Amino acid sequence: MSKPIAAANDPITIHLEKDKKYVWCACGRSTHQPFCDGSHRGTGLDPVHFTVEETGEATLCQCKGTRNPPYCDGSHAGTAFSKRSSAE
Ligand code: FES
Repeated sequence: MSKPIAAANDPITIHLEKDKKYVWCACGRSTHQPFCDGSHRGTGLDPVHFTVEETGEATLCQCKGTRNPPYCDGSHAGTAFSKRSSAE
């Protein structure tokens, strides 16, 4: 299984709609960040399917180091992102 790669160092804040189905890219290879475009095929990594209970803004992870996918947990500012970036 491949490791996730960082799509960006910073999270992205976007508008999400209640009950709409979203698919967050967990592998970092999608060209349609922060969402999956199927580029994970062959990596052994799977995207995260999710919905939101309220329409509004959400901050989604793009470094792919979050421990609370699809949401940013601040990992991009810490060792999780730094270690993975230096290993690429
Ligand atoms: S393209 Fe990254 S999880 Fe699908």
